[in-house]
Amino acid sequence: MNLKLIYVSVLAFGVAGLIVFTYLQSCIEDQRTGSEEKMQLQMINQDFGSYSTEESEKAKENWIAGKYFHKDSKALIESEGYQEPNHFENRTEDSLTTNFSEDPKKVLKQLRGMNFSSNKHYLNKFFNRNNNWKVTNEIQERRKFLLRDICQKYVKKTQIPLVHMVSRIYVEDKYKVLYCEVPKAGCSNWKRILMILGGLANSAANISHNSVHYGGNLNKLDSYNLTEIQKRLKTYTKIIFVRDPMERLVSAFRDKFEHPNIYYHPVFGKAIIKKYRPNADKKALTTGSGVKFKEFIQYLLDPYRPLGMDIHWEQINKLCYPCDIDYNFIGKFETLEKDANYILKLINAPDEVQFPHFKDRHSTDKRTNSEVIRKYLSEIPAAERLQVYGFYYLDYLMFNYTIPYKAFQSDLMHNQPYL
Ligand SMILES: *[C@@H]1O[C@H](CO)[C@@H](O)[C@H](O)[C@H]1NC(C)=O
Ligand SMILES: *[C@@H]1O[C@H](CO)[C@@H](O)[C@H](O)[C@H]1NC(C)=O
Ligand SMILES: *[C@@H]1O[C@H](CO)[C@@H](O)[C@H](O)[C@H]1NC(C)=O
Ligand SMILES: *[C@@H]1O[C@H](CO)[C@@H](O)[C@H](O)[C@H]1NC(C)=O
Ligand SMILES: *[C@@H]1O[C@H](CO)[C@@H](O)[C@H](O)[C@H]1NC(C)=O
Ligand SMILES: *[C@@H]1O[C@H](CO)[C@@H](O)[C@H](O)[C@H]1NC(C)=O
Repeated sequence: MNLKLIYVSVLAFGVAGLIVFTYLQSCIEDQRTGSEEKMQLQMINQDFGSYSTEESEKAKENWIAGKYFHKDSKALIESEGYQEPNHFENRTEDSLTTNFSEDPKKVLKQLRGMNFSSNKHYLNKFFNRNNNWKVTNEIQERRKFLLRDICQKYVKKTQIPLVHMVSRIYVEDKYKVLYCEVPKAGCSNWKRILMILGGLANSAANISHNSVHYGGNLNKLDSYNLTEIQKRLKTYTKIIFVRDPMERLVSAFRDKFEHPNIYYHPVFGKAIIKKYRPNADKKALTTGSGVKFKEFIQYLLDPYRPLGMDIHWEQINKLCYPCDIDYNFIGKFETLEKDANYILKLINAPDEVQFPHFKDRHSTDKRTNSEVIRKYLSEIPAAERLQVYGFYYLDYLMFNYTIPYKAFQSDLMHNQPYL
C-alpha cells in the first residue's frame, strides 16, 4: 500500500464516520439547519474531491463495504446481534448491509432516509426527581436515546442465554443496584462503593485492590436463579460505566504489560512474544515480560490469535450487553466522579459515601490521556490503527465516542517511518 492510498483511506473512513455521527446528532437534536448541511456537504466534497482518483474511490468503497472493520466486529454485526427486549422486535434495515452510493451527497441522503427510531420509550422518568441534576438527567436521556438507536440499527437479535449476559453484573441488594463491570473504566472504585453500601467495609481507602477483585465479597447476578435474576433486572437500578475505547485499550496494556504481573506476563505475554516477535531471546520467551504495544495489537487483530480475549480489552458491548439490558444509567469514565455521585444520590446512599478519586494501582503513572494515546498509536502501522478503530467500532457508536480522524491524518503525513 502506498502512502497516498492509506491517506485517502483514512480520509474516507473519517469522513464517512463523520457523516454518520453528524447525522445521528442531527437526528437526535432535530435542529440542523439547511446551511449547516450545505457546509458539511461542501466539506465532504472537498475532502473526497481533492483526491478523486480511482484509488480514493476504492478506499471509500472499502470503508462503506465495511472492509476496514475487523473481522470480529463485522462478525458481531452480521451474525451475533442480540435478542430481546420486546421493543427491539421490529428493526429497520441494517444500514451496514445497505449498499451505499459512491457519491457522498447521496450517502448523506441515504442515511437520512433510514429510520432511526423516535417513538420508543427511552425517557427515564425515574431520574427526574431532582432539579439540581437537570443537566445530568438530560445527558442521560441523550446517551440512552443514542444507544437505543444504535442497537436498533446495527445490532441484530441473538439468543445468548440470559445467565451469560448478566455474568459481569454485580449485585448490591440493600440499595438495589446492579453494576456491570467494565475494566479500566473505574470499576475498582465502583466495587469498593458496592462493598461499602453492602456493609462489607467502612471506607474505600481501606479496601485493597486484591480484596476488591479477588475477595469474593460481591455477588454476581449470574449466581442467582432465573426468577431472582429477572426480579432484580426489573426492579434494581442498573448502571454501566464506559470509557473511550482507545484509552481503555492503552490503559489496559500499560496496566497489564508494563508492570510485573503474575498472570498476564506468563499467560498472554509469553504467547504474544512467541507468535509475534521474530528472533525473540530466551529470557523474553520464558518470562513473557516486555511485550511491546505493537505486538499486543498484532495479537488483538489476529483472527487466529493464540489466546482468547480478556475482559480488559474485550469490547464493552460484549461485556455488558447494553442492547439487551436496559441500563438506567450510562456513566462515563471521563466524568466519573460526577456521574457516580449522582447515582449515589439517586439510590439514597448515605451522604458520607462518596466516590473515591484515587487510582489504586500504579498511582504514580501518568493517567492515560490523549497525549499518551498518541504516543502509543504512533508505534503501530497506520493500517493497523484503522483496524483497531474498526475493532471497537460498535463501542464508539453506542457511547458517542469520536474516532479522531484528524489526528490520523497528521500522523500519516508526518510519521512516514511507520508506513
Ligand atoms: C412487529 O411486527 C409484527 C409483524 O411484522 C407485528 O405483529 C408485531 O406486533 C410487531 N411488534 C412490535 C413490538 O411492534
Ligand atoms: C448490494 O450489492 C451487492 C453486490 O454489489 C449485491 O449482490 C446485493 O444484492 C446488493 N444489496 C442490496 C440490498 O441492494
Ligand atoms: C421511514 O419512515 C417513513 C415514514 O414512517 C417511510 O415513509 C419511509 O419509507 C421509511 N424509510 C425506510 C428506509 O424504511
Ligand atoms: C455526543 O458527543 C458530542 C460531543 O462530543 C455532544 O455534543 C453530543 O451531544 C453527544 N450526543 C449524545 C447523543 O450524547
Ligand atoms: C483503615 O485502616 C487503618 C489501618 O488498618 C485504620 O487505622 C483505620 O482506622 C481504618 N479506617 C477506617 C475508616 O476503617
Ligand atoms: C430461586 O431462588 C429463590 C431464593 O433462593 C428461591 O426461593 C426459589 O425457590 C428459587 N426458584 C427456583 C425456581 O428455583
